[in-house]
Amino acid sequence: MNVHGATALVTGANRGIGRSFAIELLARGATVYATARTPELIDIPGAEVMRLDITDQASVAAAAARASDVDLLINNAADTAGGSLVDGDPDAIRSTMESNYFGTLAMIRAFAPVLARNGGGAILNVLSAAAWSTVPGNTAYAAAKSAQWGLTNGVRVELAEQGTLVTALVPGLVGTPTLYDFARRQGIEFPDGRVIDPADLVRLALDGLEAGEIEVLDPIGAEAKSALSGPPRAFALG
Ligand SMILES: NC(=O)c1ccc[n+]([C@@H]2O[C@H](COP(=O)([O-])OP(=O)(O)OC[C@H]3O[C@@H](n4cnc5c(N)ncnc54)[C@H](OP(=O)(O)O)[C@@H]3O)[C@@H](O)[C@H]2O)c1
Repeated sequence: MNVHGATALVTGANRGIGRSFAIELLARGATVYATARTPELIDIPGAEVMRLDITDQASVAAAAARASDVDLLINNAADTAGGSLVDGDPDAIRSTMESNYFGTLAMIRAFAPVLARNGGGAILNVLSAAAWSTVPGNTAYAAAKSAQWGLTNGVRVELAEQGTLVTALVPGLVGTPTLYDFARRQGIEFPDGRVIDPADLVRLALDGLEAGEIEVLDPIGAEAKSALSGPPRAFALG
């Protein structure tokens, strides 16, 4: 996948990793639809700004109709605050699954024909090392990311015939305000060097995409994956 000259759509581009994706894609010569539920908060010169809630079917359909030239879909948006599975707020657990799993799926279903018409293109789903481990205090998020990983593998198989590359980005700890807020609430301090900068992560992701990789792992993502083949154990972030 050549990013230069591509037309990309990024979900959740008003802050965090999504905003870094939009900026780096523009820097690499892509045309960018930067989308968010609150597009008023998008401050990226050169981006085409669009309102999009990935859990709202009408909003997703409208985005696919308007952005009919897209050949690179970056599924970044997610509600990350699921809480605990056993005694957490059931609405928060459902909302986390709704965005990570059903929202990502709705975007893929709506944009698969768009990508096919535009030569196949690529989809990059932003997963998490939590898909392969667990996050004390946010186990519902880890479960939703596991579901999103299964979804990513499934659509890769289904979209191979139309020539769509489906890439999983699997980061560990990414230095966004959302991560630091979570850490503060949980009383977690990350050791030096464990948190990757969002700009560095998206460069890694787009390099991998350009090389045709189906999985791009940062160092913690790689640790989490290799731990899957070892004995079952709790995985402590940090
Ligand atoms: N930060 C990390 O350490 C880390 C690690 C691994 C993976 N990730 C993953 O990376 C992605 C981005 O994380 P982040 O740290 O940048 O989080 P963030 O700053 O909280 O950003 C999440 C983005 O998703 C948007 N969003 C949430 N629900 C949405 C919906 N229904 N429709 C459209 N947009 C929606 C948010 O928009 P609103 O402003 O409208 O809420 C926001 O723009 C997520 O998939 C997350 O799971 C993050």
